[in-house]
Amino acid sequence: MSGRIPQHFIDDLLARVNIVDVVDSRIKLKRAGKNYSALCPFHKEKSPSFSVSADKQFYYCFGCGAGGNALGFVMEFERLSFPEAVEELAKTVGLEVPHEHDRERDVAKEKQVKKQFDLLEEANQFYQKQLRSHSEREKAVAYLKKRGVSGQIAARFQLGYAPPGWDNLQQHIAKEQADADALLLASGMMVENEERGRRYDRFRDRIMFPIRDMRGRTIGFGARVLTNEKPKYLNSPETDTFHKGRELYGLYEARQNTGTLEKLLIVEGYMDVVSLAQHGLTWSVATLGTATTDAHLERIFKLVNEVVFCFDGDAAGRQAAKRALHTCVPVLRDGLMARFLFLPDGEDPDTLVRSEGVEAFSQRVNESLPFSEYFFKALSEDIDLTSMDGRARFSTEALPLIRTMQVSVLQQMMMDRVAEMTGLSIDQLDTIANLHAKVEPPVQFEAESVAPAPQRGYFESKPRRQEQRFEPVEQVRSGTRINLVNSAISILMHRPDLAAQAVKPEELDGVLLENIGLLKALLHYFQNTPDASLGTLALDWQHDPELMPNLLVLNEISQLDPVLSNVDAQVLLNDALQRLVARKTEKQLRDLTQLSRERPLTSEEKVLLATLLAQRNNSQ
Ligand code: GTP
Ligand code: MN
Repeated sequence: MSGRIPQHFIDDLLARVNIVDVVDSRIKLKRAGKNYSALCPFHKEKSPSFSVSADKQFYYCFGCGAGGNALGFVMEFERLSFPEAVEELAKTVGLEVPHEHDRERDVAKEKQVKKQFDLLEEANQFYQKQLRSHSEREKAVAYLKKRGVSGQIAARFQLGYAPPGWDNLQQHIAKEQADADALLLASGMMVENEERGRRYDRFRDRIMFPIRDMRGRTIGFGARVLTNEKPKYLNSPETDTFHKGRELYGLYEARQNTGTLEKLLIVEGYMDVVSLAQHGLTWSVATLGTATTDAHLERIFKLVNEVVFCFDGDAAGRQAAKRALHTCVPVLRDGLMARFLFLPDGEDPDTLVRSEGVEAFSQRVNESLPFSEYFFKALSEDIDLTSMDGRARFSTEALPLIRTMQVSVLQQMMMDRVAEMTGLSIDQLDTIANLHAKVEPPVQFEAESVAPAPQRGYFESKPRRQEQRFEPVEQVRSGTRINLVNSAISILMHRPDLAAQAVKPEELDGVLLENIGLLKALLHYFQNTPDASLGTLALDWQHDPELMPNLLVLNEISQLDPVLSNVDAQVLLNDALQRLVARKTEKQLRDLTQLSRERPLTSEEKVLLATLLAQRNNSQ
């Protein structure tokens, strides 16, 4: 193991590992808002000043000044040299560390890749030839005709036919190629049955759609049955040369056949691309059975400034659209545009363009929703913007996303729009976003999370499952301040609805414990504000100079893991409150007893003493 490690490899390695995992597998991290914290492993300390930022992929200790990236951490922690740390990290992500003198291996690898490309091209030619000359070609040709595909378009997309039979391709390749099987296996064209060791062609009796890279090289295939059998489509597996998350079907053809490529339409299926081209819309591409990735978008936006996503009108389509929206958010910047097109339920671009023609279809594309419009539509879905709570929830869903956008006029305009929709000033929104960023996990922008459960609060430090099972109090590390008051506060933050049946704040008068004022204020707020939630509370308190500091305390408490196990939150809350009231009782009892030693009690004091004694007996 010698020779310099190439910088690109180190960059790639750092891009693949997550510092949070790297650190967490060595010292237990605790989530603290956007970041993670722990006791610093590099110096002695009692309270955590060591933190890890997932965003910045960086660790830092305020206590001792240690800091760096994942590699630096491994070096320090494991006391390794730089190359050793690289080896160590590379292992965890399954990478082999290259060394710059490994030229021989590089050359061998390149040769292998070239052979693979040649093989795929040979297969492509073979399938096309079968469509023209195989004895069973008629049914394939008839199928394509039935789907409205002309010979010219079939030729443009190099469509082919894999004839029935287990080894047509294998036989064909073996004629000229010595290591045919190895190559066929490596490129995914042949399947090996592991039990019996039998090998056979992956694609049989199917229409073949070669997938080509930007340079026109065949890198894989999609293949459709001619009947209603399942699976309808088979795709090449991921190989060294074929990455589904990066490639787009039809991109090469779109560039070849569109004068100036100005925008791209992203559709779901191979046949959609072919059919649109058949009708003259040459600028569509399809993802390969995956959702659109950021790698796709980066590739697309290097070629064009505008992308139109096309979705089925059904629930799955809407779900996919939200995913695409989320993928767009960090990628878009001024000058780039994304639009969202929803098709009528049950239609796809192929069926639509065939039934209504390309003019009508293009009209739909032109009228599709711009990114920002769809953004607000999707986010305010299921949220009642006329209610205070609804607006608060809306802003806390929208703001973190808008924050991850590139700094741009678009971003500013979208901030303004949130302000307009919620009736809050940008300053107010910033405050909310800051509070929020401290404790909220990154928003999961899936349809299910659009309508959070009512008890879901702003200050929640972890995503919770619906049933709200909290860790038992024993598991909370010492040093955190989970005590009676804080656990009552914590429960109330998660279940404001429980306040209604709890004791009145006045009953806690006379209890002198840290944060008791806050607990009373919470009880008061939730008992007296109709439809209150943590969201409304944050809005109501943030501008009150007396109450505002409470929000910071709430933030802190929300980061302590709340009590509760499988026990009912209500039981635990009432128990905590009863005990607090009992403390007051004890204190008053002690005071009265002390007093009675100094002088006779007044009749009023005697009544109080009797009441307190009765209370204590009841609570025991
Ligand atoms: P046609 O029936 O030929 O019009 O197909 P379609 O493109 O309308 O099919 P559909 O909307 O069902 O699927 C869209 C895309 O999903 C296809 O182009 C494939 O990439 C992928 N797909 C569909 N069915 C299957 C399948 O059975 N297996 C795999 N691996 N992918 C599929
Ligand atoms: Mn279809």
